[in-house]
Amino acid sequence: MPRTVTVRAPGKVNLQLAVGPRRDDGYHRLVTVFQAVSLYETVTATARDDEDIVLRIAASPALTFDPASVPTDESNLAVRAARAVAERYGITDGIDLDIVKGIPVAGGMAGGSADAAAAAVACAEAWDTGASRVELEELCAGLGADVPFCLHGHTAVGLGRGDELSPAMTHGQFHWVFATQSEGLSTPAVFREFDRAVAAGEAEVAEPALDDAVMAALMAGDPRALGSALTNDLQPAALRLAPHLQDVIDAAKDADAVGAIVSGSGPTVAALARSRQHALAIAAHLTAEDVAHTVLTASGPAAGAAIVADLSD
Ligand code: C5P
Repeated sequence: MPRTVTVRAPGKVNLQLAVGPRRDDGYHRLVTVFQAVSLYETVTATARDDEDIVLRIAASPALTFDPASVPTDESNLAVRAARAVAERYGITDGIDLDIVKGIPVAGGMAGGSADAAAAAVACAEAWDTGASRVELEELCAGLGADVPFCLHGHTAVGLGRGDELSPAMTHGQFHWVFATQSEGLSTPAVFREFDRAVAAGEAEVAEPALDDAVMAALMAGDPRALGSALTNDLQPAALRLAPHLQDVIDAAKDADAVGAIVSGSGPTVAALARSRQHALAIAAHLTAEDVAHTVLTASGPAAGAAIVADLSD
């Protein structure tokens, strides 16, 4: 029986996303606080006898999207993760990758990055490479700015491109509502709009700095304090590209969300609740207001990429 390994990796919300100047490599200097949430990509890797890397994508029951809208060719981050593992460990065998997506597609919640993190762990295990966690962290950093955090999980401060991580102390669980849109936003397009506004003098860019209020609220496990401390420097750019997101934020606030922001580069809106019951009430209100494509509830922090099944020969 070929070796089959299933790994799941979480999506994220940025509790703070401070965007600094653009660097020479095109990336922006960030100070961000990531929280992993309980929406997961699940990747099952099965070693093949031939050299092919074959990707299949399905949606989890909670998400409605057309799986055909996600590319399965070499541009897919999970395929790139498999190729990177094969190259690093001199593997010539192929692999089947079956992905069940539970994180909104192109939603600002790192769904593609979670695929990459999960695929890297699953391939390393299915091919029996003996890769260490540190080696996987390095490999993930080469795949994209958010990939190391999807491997890491929990709550962490991200510096540099967002990939220089240090854990943040938290207390308890926070309850979130995520309102998705049918049309995604491209992360590079949102950063381009941010740069355009700065170049046009419509916005200013400052040296990013960690917000003590976010860290204190996390330590205290205080959703109200965290809700009022949430900030996202990409939000104005995302709102210019998708103005209707303001309706989602307003609807969440009407339902007494303690905070509501665009998640990462959007277009998903993240609303923070006081409790799990309150999250369900906010979700019901957003659904009734018809401002979102899908409304999901989740909690954070959630663990990073982890093996959930290993069927070995
Ligand atoms: O690393 P990743 O491919 O996930 O990043 C997607 C895009 O987001 C980059 O190509 C870049 O346009 C933008 N980005 C950025 N600065 C960062 C992270 C991402 O400009 N720190």
